[in-house]
Order: sequence, then structure tokens, then C-alpha cells
Amino acid sequence: MPEGCCRPDLSLPAHHGLCWSCDMAYSYRHFLALYPGSATTYDGHMFNHEEKAVTEMRLMHVDASPKRQLSNSKMLSAYFVESLKKQIPELTVDYLDLSVDTPPHVTGDFAKATYTPAAERTDAMKNTLAYSDKLCARVIMSDLLVFAMPMYNFSMPSSFKAFIDNLVRTNLTYNFHEDGTTTGNLTRQKTLFITTRGADLRPGLSPWSHMDALTPALKSPFAFLGVENPWFVDAQPLQFSDQVAREEALKRAHAELDDVVATWASSIALAQ
Ligand SMILES: Cc1cc2nc3c(=O)[nH]c(=O)nc-3n(C[C@H](O)[C@H](O)[C@H](O)COP(=O)(O)O)c2cc1C
Repeated sequence: MPEGCCRPDLSLPAHHGLCWSCDMAYSYRHFLALYPGSATTYDGHMFNHEEKAVTEMRLMHVDASPKRQLSNSKMLSAYFVESLKKQIPELTVDYLDLSVDTPPHVTGDFAKATYTPAAERTDAMKNTLAYSDKLCARVIMSDLLVFAMPMYNFSMPSSFKAFIDNLVRTNLTYNFHEDGTTTGNLTRQKTLFITTRGADLRPGLSPWSHMDALTPALKSPFAFLGVENPWFVDAQPLQFSDQVAREEALKRAHAELDDVVATWASSIALAQ
């Protein structure tokens, strides 16, 4: 390992590398932020110090609607990503459709493996965690996160809940400290949630306004992972209303997405 190659320099563009032993990908910048100095392993993975500089800006785009076509949330997230690409042509997009690649539910084996220290995991445990490892790596490596989903029964589709259950991992997406405190590791990712709702749950506008369990259910786990101030664009009402209200809801959502594009593009331009 060349001397000084672990010196943290967070002003560098995102770097990433692969674990020598299992090809798991890590963001080099993120790794250095976590382990300044000369650490060469991370949660049992060996970091490749011959990483190549990557000047790309990575966006992970996740859709959770099971609809293949005519999905409101997919249409809005595609609009957002395409608009952002016009502002940031070098943007690399990592797309995940949870209705096609649905994360596995947590099992008893998963619960045991995830709380076993990485160095003590058996091959079977590593196998059990393989999907989750890769998913965490994809998220950690990303600079920008866009999660789009419909509201289902006042909360999220079960595929997105399974996504979260695979993403919350000790010493990977968050750290558990000896004094019992925790810190999230997704502090640098700008994060946008796009949600679509059949009814209008904005305060005071429907008998169900107070029943929005989706917003807090998204905020809490991501705050735990370090996402303190995510953006939300909630398109509503898109189903249980007349045509005029639906069209206005989509217009509002597009305008809010345009604002997020402008905010992200200008802050990224300033940082470069
Ligand atoms: C199973 C199911 C449950 C739903 N639950 C709710 C709900 O609790 N509140 C609501 O406002 N809309 C609800 N809807 C309506 C969807 O959130 C709405 O139609 C949304 O625009 C669908 O997004 P999509 O086209 O991206 O799938 C539900 C729809 C389905 C299919």
C-alpha cells in the first residue's frame, strides 16, 4: 500500500473501490470519512487501495410501485431523474425496480447473522447477508438517492419496507458505539422521497389527513442512518378526487420536483 494513500481528503470527487476478498463495492470517500488513517478493513471487508479515481456523480433511483406502466410515482421519479440529468450530464444512474428485484424479507437466519460480528460470520451467514451487503454498497456508493413509491394503506409498499430492513446494518450503514450511542453513515447523500397518494392527506384537507403513517415511517429509519433532512414531494390526491384536483396535484408535484432539481444542481455545482 503506498504511503499516505489513506489520508482523508473529502474535497476529492467520489472514489470507490472493491473489497479484495468479495468484490463488495465501497465509496472510498465514505470509507475514509469513517476510518481516517490507515485502516484497511471495514466490517470484515478488505478495501482495495488501488482504487481508481471516479469523477462521476452517482444517483440511486429506486421505484417501489408494482405497476409496470401508468404508475404515477414511476412517472414522477423518471421526470425528476431526467430533469436532473439535463443539469448534471455526467450523472450515473443506478436503477432498482423493487417490483422486479424485490428484497428478501428478514428471516431468523438474517437476524442472527446481522448481529454476529463480521469476522465471526460463517459462510452460511455471509450467504444470508449477501443481498443486503450488495444493497448497502449500492446505497453507500451513491451521492444522491431518489426513492419513489405509492402510499399503501397509509404507509409504504411492503417491498420498500423490505428494502429498509436490508439497508439498516450495524457497522455498515450505521455504527453502534461502545457507549451505546449510534451514528448513521448516510450523512453525505442528498435524499428525495417521492410519494403518490390516492387521497389528499395534506393537513385539514381530508378526514384522513392525520393518518399519514408513511412520512414518519420513512423519516425515522433514514434519520437513524444519518439522513437528517430529506426532501419530500408528495403528489396528492391522484385517485380519490375529481379530474381537476388530480391534474392540479400532478402540476404541484412537477413544480416541487423542478425546485429540488434546481436546489441539488446548484449545490452540486458549488461543491465542485
Ligand atoms: C393496495 C393499495 C392501497 C392503497 N392505499 C392508499 C392509502 O392508504 N391512502 C391513499 O391515499 N391512497 C392509497 N392507495 C392509492 C395509491 O396510493 C395511489 O393510487 C397512487 O397514486 C398509486 O401510485 P402508483 O401509480 O405509482 O402505483 C392505495 C392503492 C393501492 C393499490
